[in-house]
Amino acid sequence: MASERIIELRNLLNKACHSYYVLDNPFLEDAIYDQLYLELIELESQNPNLISKDSPTQRIGESPVNGFKSSIHRIPLLSLDNAFDLKELNKWFIKVNKFLEANECHTNDLKMVGELKIDGNAIALSYIDGLLVKAATRGDGSQGEDITSNVKTIKSIPLRLNLDNPPPWTEIRGEAFIPNKIFDFINQEKRMKGEDLFANPRNACAGTLRQLDPKIVANRRLDFFAYTIHFPHEWINTNNYPNKHSSQWDSLEWLKQAGFKVNPNSELMTDLEKVQAFYKKWNKERFQLPYATDGVVIKLNDFNHQISTGFTQKAPRWAIALKYPAEEAPTKLLKLTYQVGRSGTVTPVAEFEPVLLAGTKVSRATVHNANRIA
Ligand code: IVH
Repeated sequence: MASERIIELRNLLNKACHSYYVLDNPFLEDAIYDQLYLELIELESQNPNLISKDSPTQRIGESPVNGFKSSIHRIPLLSLDNAFDLKELNKWFIKVNKFLEANECHTNDLKMVGELKIDGNAIALSYIDGLLVKAATRGDGSQGEDITSNVKTIKSIPLRLNLDNPPPWTEIRGEAFIPNKIFDFINQEKRMKGEDLFANPRNACAGTLRQLDPKIVANRRLDFFAYTIHFPHEWINTNNYPNKHSSQWDSLEWLKQAGFKVNPNSELMTDLEKVQAFYKKWNKERFQLPYATDGVVIKLNDFNHQISTGFTQKAPRWAIALKYPAEEAPTKLLKLTYQVGRSGTVTPVAEFEPVLLAGTKVSRATVHNANRIA
């Protein structure tokens, strides 16, 4: 029966995709995957009524669009307050403790989760009954753009949650990013075509997410780390909520179970010294990572602690982004040139011997003012 074979192929290929792109542990040879994929395409084209939205063939099915619809966020996407050194981290920690004490929370067991701050673009994924129905950019935090067809091409994002009892609605948030290698490759290609280069992986990712042709997006091999879940309140408050969790650490576990890629370098920590060591470790080791990170994010682990500390207008009090100092590297200036933009604006550009910064080779920088040119 075609319908049975379609279901079998769909499940097998989705599982293979998860093993390959999320677990980094493939179990199917590429050639076999391709062969089964072609069989599925053939069967679906003979039985279009049997194509389901979570079929792997639906990741790049869509044709170019004219633009993106705007999308209002059910829950705003806030940003994070920043700290730029360990002193500022300590200040945040003292403030948090005061808040908790004022709310009569016991702070002698204040666990924190340290995560890498991925230098990409925040996206919000809506799942209804386990099925991915919408993906939106952050935009101004209350309203973003609907980029669903582009996001479906990201193979580490499940089209269906891997849960027996999925919530009626859930929103997963995380960071889309371009691995450094792919970024270098895209810029090399752009250079050959005489096109303007992307300044860094984050810009390349943002530019790609807003590409009108999902086929180009699919070729750019974006990736995604998930870090936040929003559940419907009525669901959390019922006692038969199946996977009840009450901390950030549990959320990360839930996200893994549901099929997402969670950054493996996250750590559950019990005191400030560990947090400081976590920051120092990644400040050194970040250059070995295959993607860009511009700091670490420290979050109170316990949701009760998060509720007690609450939010300011723009950011949660229960989290802080501890940013790395801007990177510097000496190199030799080769020449100063001028770049003429499409609107006729002229920007001076310094060309120098390539240096490695944030994991990518840099050989040009725009210089915006007379002091810098001098
Ligand atoms: S949590 C309510 N965790 O950093 C705040 N953000 O500068 C939720 N980011 O807008 C954000 N890695 O796009 C969080 N592990 C991480 C992150 C992360 C990168 C981004 C995110 C956020 C921005 C704030």
